[in-house]
Formats: sequence, structure tokens, C-alpha cells
Amino acid sequence: MMNFFRPISISLSPNTEKDDVFLALKLLFQPWRWQKEQPSESRPPTVELEEEFKRYLGVKYAISFNSGRSALMAILDALEIKNGDEVLLQAFTCNSAVNPILERGAKPVYVDIDDTLNLDPVDLKRKITHSINSGRAPKAIMIQHNFGWPAKIEEILKIARENNLYLIEDCAHSLGAKYEGRPCGTFGDVAFFSFGRDKIISSVFGGLAVTNNEKIGEGLKRFQAGLFFPSSFWICQQLWHPILMNYLILPAYGVNSTLGRVIIGVFHKLLILSKAVYKKEKKGKIPQHFPKFLPNALAILGLNQFKKLERFNEHRREIAKFYERELINFYLPLATRALAKGEDERSSSPKPWGARQPIFMRYPVLTNLNTSDVLKAARKRKIYLDDGWRKSPVVPPDTDIEKMQYLLGSCPRAEKVAKSILNLPTHINISQDDAKRVVNFLKTYGD
Ligand SMILES: Cc1ncc(COP(=O)(O)O)c(C=O)c1O
Repeated sequence: MMNFFRPISISLSPNTEKDDVFLALKLLFQPWRWQKEQPSESRPPTVELEEEFKRYLGVKYAISFNSGRSALMAILDALEIKNGDEVLLQAFTCNSAVNPILERGAKPVYVDIDDTLNLDPVDLKRKITHSINSGRAPKAIMIQHNFGWPAKIEEILKIARENNLYLIEDCAHSLGAKYEGRPCGTFGDVAFFSFGRDKIISSVFGGLAVTNNEKIGEGLKRFQAGLFFPSSFWICQQLWHPILMNYLILPAYGVNSTLGRVIIGVFHKLLILSKAVYKKEKKGKIPQHFPKFLPNALAILGLNQFKKLERFNEHRREIAKFYERELINFYLPLATRALAKGEDERSSSPKPWGARQPIFMRYPVLTNLNTSDVLKAARKRKIYLDDGWRKSPVVPPDTDIEKMQYLLGSCPRAEKVAKSILNLPTHINISQDDAKRVVNFLKTYGD
């Protein structure tokens, strides 16, 4: 939509289409629908969204919240993770996946990543053994299916069972991804999804936890029942997001990056728009907006996006295939690299990615170039590739990693990847021509 002045951007409200913007606009003028459903609505949209997820994933419980991080807070509560317990998770993660652990007084233990940017089972075993030998109490493993590429689920599940640890699936990036035909989010004991502004589907903020385990499911329900709705002010901020992004901010970035940055900065300052990550979260604190109920208005936005999930993901795969074909001799595309090592050889599936059906929330490539310089040069061509997943083992890059309890040097591969990654956009508003522009830029960079 809005091709005139539209730049290529990885993360400025990437999923929104015309109908999403109009829906947000309509809701903006119906404040009575923001928090709770109306009696005239036969089924509350939050319940409908939960039912859609149950059907889609084939799970018994699906409980909605106002973000993925709220869903993770509910999960940790339902698993009775307490002060001093350890949760093992991959480095090269987002601070919003770590803060709920810190908030309970539990300890995040970072595990290094493999070639697909997912948790490495070998380092996982090492870290568990180290914890046990040190007399500490590992309680759960959290895997991330990073950027929509399914992790080494079978191996990790085996390690979890052998060590009597819960397995949590962080599916913030992987709604619709499958392994051996089975959806991510149905392998572990419990999983959560995010409908954040640049996730697979988006209601600006929103999330959901799923499980087949009755005890955990009832715990999640109890946690949800104890929550309040977010304020009308907060909901209003989220409704403005797709509207302003599409009709003002993206076109401003289309003029130049300074204008875009200034305009978005003003909207943040005036609190008309929310930020994806609040300032205090970079220092290990949870803002008052979490955890909360998923408000009615955001559930309506989420449902509208959910209807488009398969089309969105098919598009992402097509764009990813194009990048993979075009960039193989220039950059290191991660999917290909995993296959080249025979990781998926045992699968008889004719699919290009073997046993995995990834959904490529982003298409990551690695490079020896200075990525800050590459991003700067891209910005000059109105190609905005900086999604914040860079520089640091816990992103965004200005996160205080000491507060995240991350010990520098503890996950060398994650630290190296953070310095050499470039994420390419795959979302529904990236056309084949856009993808060609990205590829041409990368192929000719430095010429
Ligand atoms: C890997 C990962 N986990 C969890 C989250 C938290 O999701 P949300 O933004 O919906 O709270 C995010 C997104 O910010 C994420 O990238």
C-alpha cells in the first residue's frame, strides 16, 4: 500500500494492509469497544482469537494477554518458577524474553547458538551439567525458533526430559512454522506467541500462551483472571500506530531518514505512539503496562491479521527463497548453511528446507563487512534494514547486559553473530521488486 514515497523498511508496522489501517481508524472512534467487548458482540473477540488458536494448533488451552512478555510472565507463574530457579535460554534474544525471568527473582542462564541462530543442544548440555555440579536449580529451558526457523526440537526435548526440566517454546517469531509437519508451539510443555508490531501477525501489542497440560492451562487461566485491562490511553496509543506509521511516518522516511526519525521521535515524546520496548526494560524492569488483559480493540486487530496468516507466511517464504538464491555467493544465508551441513538429510520431504517449514519473520545473512556502515549506506537509498537485532547478545543493542545477567564471553557465537548479522525484510509489503532492490544494493555495496 501507499507506494508513492514508500521506502523499504523491515520494522515500521510491516504487516499492515489497508483493511488493518481502516479497522484501527474505525476503532479509534469507538472508544466504548476498546477495553471490553460489547453485549451486542455475540462472542468476545479475545475469546474468538483464543478459539482460533486452539483450532489452528490443536491445543487444549490458549489464553490471551496484552503482549508476548505478559504471556511469558503468566507461564513462569503457572510453572511456579521462583526465586533462585534457573531458566536456560539462548543468547541473541530480546530483553523482553529475559525480564519476566528476572522479575520472578529467577536466573537466566544463557546458552550459545548454532548455525541457524537457535539454541545449541551441545552448549545446553554443558550449561545444565555446570549448573547441577554447582548445586544450582535449573527448572526450565526456553527455545526461541529464531526469526521463524524451528530449533533442534527433538534433541532439546530429549535433554529437557532427561533432566526433568520444563520446555517453554518462545514462538514470538514463529507462528505458522512447522517441524515434521507439526506446528511450533506444540512440542514443549507450554508456548507463547507475540502479536507485536513487527511480528508474524500484529495487533501492535498482544500475545497468547498455549498448552495441552491441564495443570499449566488452569494456572494460565487463573493468572489471566487476576489481571486488569490496560488503560484507554494505552489502547489509544496502539490504535494510532498503524494509522500514523502508514500515512505519515513511512512516507516521511520515504523523503529521507532524518525527517522520518524526527517525526517518529515527536510522536514518542508526545506519547501519541508507544515504543516496542520501554526504556526501563533495557535495565531489566517491567513497565506497569504488563502484564494485562488483551483489550477488545487489539483482539479485533489480531483476528483480522490472523485470517491472513497463511498468505503472509507463503509470501515470506517466497521472498526468502529469492534472497537465498541471489545472495548465496555474496553473504551467508543461514537456512542454506544448515542444509549444507546435512542437518535435515534424514527427511525424505521434497520441501527445500527438509523437515522444517520455516516462516522467515526475517531473512538473516552474515557478513564480514561492517554492518553499521552497510546499514548507513542502505539508509541513503531509503532501504531501512535496522530492526535492532544486532550488536548485542541481548537486544536491542542499548540493553544493559549486566542487568540482564549476561556475562560477556559466555556465548561467543551469539556475540559474533550479533556483530555480523544483517536481517532482510520478508513481510507482506515487500514486493519482488523491493526484494530485488535489497539484493542489488547488497551485491553492489562497496563497488
Ligand atoms: C524472541 C522474543 N521473545 C519474546 C518477545 C516478547 O514479545 P512481546 O513484544 O509481544 O512482548 C519478543 C518481542 O519483543 C521476542 O523477539
